[in-house]
Amino acid sequence: MPTSLHSTALDDLGTGKAVVLLHGFPFNRSMWSDQIEFLSAHGYRSIAPDLRGLGENRSDDEVATMEDMARDVAALMDELKIDRAIIGGLSMGCYVAFEFIRLFPSRVRALVLAGARAEGADKAEKKSREQQAKRVLEQGMTHAIDSILQSLLSPRTVAEKPDVVSRVREMVASTDPRGAAAAQRGMAVRRDYRDDLPNISAPTLITAGHEDGVRKPIDAGSIQQGIENSRLEVIDKAGHLMNMEQPERFNQVLLEFLKSVTEARP
Ligand code: MLT
Repeated sequence: MPTSLHSTALDDLGTGKAVVLLHGFPFNRSMWSDQIEFLSAHGYRSIAPDLRGLGENRSDDEVATMEDMARDVAALMDELKIDRAIIGGLSMGCYVAFEFIRLFPSRVRALVLAGARAEGADKAEKKSREQQAKRVLEQGMTHAIDSILQSLLSPRTVAEKPDVVSRVREMVASTDPRGAAAAQRGMAVRRDYRDDLPNISAPTLITAGHEDGVRKPIDAGSIQQGIENSRLEVIDKAGHLMNMEQPERFNQVLLEFLKSVTEARP
């Protein structure tokens, strides 16, 4: 249900415990469409906003920090009158989720981290992000599409799932270069979330794509070791965009986790 009633473009479907899903970069809320439908059909209110500067959530910011985005999510939850939610992210969405739980720990019922990385950006990464920000501002998004498809999808998905490939292609092509540059600059100045992991007490599901070329399952393993109340699930036959590449398996893992959390707690 896209809505213009709120300050943020979002999908909001179903009733029940709220699950807020935060998309990756340079994508938008539509990457969660399989999960939104599935979770709403299984008794959850599933919500996916476009993050600042991305999707339909246009912004003129030169830098959109992960903290800005987390505060936007909190403001949206206020508007929707949701006090606590299960907060889930994929990749950049995980940086935002890490910020959210640091700033608003009591508003997190549980955490879902897909394709996460906890390290902050080193000098080389900062430089590369600034170069990429400048490049999209000068040349637009199109040049980035092929490298994104190659690095974020498993070769199997590229070969066998043309529908997923074209959804990813469309998301990147429709991204506002100003929003992409601002998010790149925001990711360049993100915290090193490794320092925050021991403070996370919410039940946490970590998922990793078995064929993810940018976030190896072993990186997910170190996050899992840092968060006490966490479990790790590896999604077979999937790359970085595991929820789109293997939606049935991802949904099953997600639902099992949500049930374990929401059925055990009031
Ligand atoms: C993403 O998929 O959101 C990006 O790979 C995040 C990043 O650039 O670190």
